[in-house]
Amino acid sequence: MLKNRVDVLIGAQWGDEGKGKVVDTMGTGVDVFVRCQGGANAGHTVIVNGEKIVFHLLPSGMLYPGKLCMIGNGVVIEPEQFLKEIEDLRERGQDRARLVVSPAAHVVMPYHKILDKAQEAFRGKGHMIGTTGRGIGPCYVDKYARSGLRVEDLLNEDRLREKLTRILEEKNRILTKLYNEKPFALDEVLDPALEWGKAMTPYVGDAVELLQEALESDKHVLLEGAQATLLDIDHGTYPYVTSSSTCAAGGFTGTGLPVSRVDRVIAVVKAYTTRVGEGPMPTEEKGDIGESLRTRGGEFGATTGRPRRCGWLDMVAVRYSVRLNGSGVIALTKLDVLTGLNEIKVCTAYDLNGKETTRFSSDSYVLEECRPVYETLPGWSEDISHCTTFESLPEKAQDYVRYIEKHAGAPVKLIGVGADRNQTINREFY
Ligand code: GDP
Ligand code: IMO
Ligand code: MG
Repeated sequence: MLKNRVDVLIGAQWGDEGKGKVVDTMGTGVDVFVRCQGGANAGHTVIVNGEKIVFHLLPSGMLYPGKLCMIGNGVVIEPEQFLKEIEDLRERGQDRARLVVSPAAHVVMPYHKILDKAQEAFRGKGHMIGTTGRGIGPCYVDKYARSGLRVEDLLNEDRLREKLTRILEEKNRILTKLYNEKPFALDEVLDPALEWGKAMTPYVGDAVELLQEALESDKHVLLEGAQATLLDIDHGTYPYVTSSSTCAAGGFTGTGLPVSRVDRVIAVVKAYTTRVGEGPMPTEEKGDIGESLRTRGGEFGATTGRPRRCGWLDMVAVRYSVRLNGSGVIALTKLDVLTGLNEIKVCTAYDLNGKETTRFSSDSYVLEECRPVYETLPGWSEDISHCTTFESLPEKAQDYVRYIEKHAGAPVKLIGVGADRNQTINREFY
């Protein structure tokens, strides 16, 4: 077991790679788990002995007794969802980790959720992003416009009343005049917000200082990214992205972790591609193959329940992510889902207007024009869901993993062969 290490874990595709499961499998060796960006748009699934838990806001290390779990300043918190997740864990007797929330994290307010939906309707067919409707975009807009509310604001009645009065004056005009929505009365928002503040008080703490102390005492810190690289506000397929920095770099601003302190950037890669919401996806399979991957992989959103768009592994996209994040290691998930396929295709280049390229484009107009160029690999039929070593995998499955390593330019050190915590092959990853 390697100690004294700081890991940043990110998704390398369009989300839902299985980040939650990878974080959970790393659990025993980690001391501090930190969420750094995004909000309840995330859905991170953890399955332990057949029991399923989906984390939206809480770090996926919450099931480990005595560990420190933190929600960093870069996260946007929907208080009701936050409190519900804690309550759900308490009911199961699983609220065993210590939880600390940064006072500087922004709060997703009820008007953000209304605005999220109203803006999607305003964009209309052909232009909507397909957001999760969790108010993420509007909340980050307010953060950067410097008119947001932070967790610390919920803890002081006078301050909250003064700020909310000003905020609602503007929001109500936008809601009523632009979007034909109902205005919010001050008390309608203030009263519940004060209640949230009271309920959250025990969890609010100096997250930056705690992180520093953890680093000074050689703790193993794991930053858990949400969403994924291709949904990054700067480097993703804009405008079909989320509103935060989902790359490894977002982990630093989102927590206060010094840039010089990171040891490992872990890219979580699903053995094929999925995407929820709108936007280009070169390897999307709209017919039987896509349907088959969706059924085999159970590809339905953990947050919204929407069917995920499915297709073959896009190595152009994965290589882009691995390089952009400087990932020295890959955690490959859902290899078992490909079992039983006669052949497996992998996109190794794009055909862009008759020219072959291996360069990914974050310009969604350009990416929309890219057609996948495939190589076909032989499949395997043996059940791999009980494999615990790389050597016990069928030769063809091993070849698929080696192929990914070669094209991504990084070693695959962890392999998921099932959804349960134990269905994981460790290749000197821990
Ligand atoms: P996240 O958002 O990246 O944490 O991923 P999600 O939880 O949204 O989606 C991943 C889904 O795949 C969940 O249902 C997991 O339980 C499941 N999963 C994760 N790893 C594996 C794996 O190796 N094999 C299989 N069959 N399922 C997996
Ligand atoms: P995890 O952490 C997959 C997608 C939405 C939409 C776009 C913008 O579980 O991998 P937003 O509500 O963020 O404004 O929506 O981003 N999206 C995700 N897709 N996994 C996620 O999180 C996602 N979070 C947001 O579907 O296309
Ligand atoms: Mg998810």
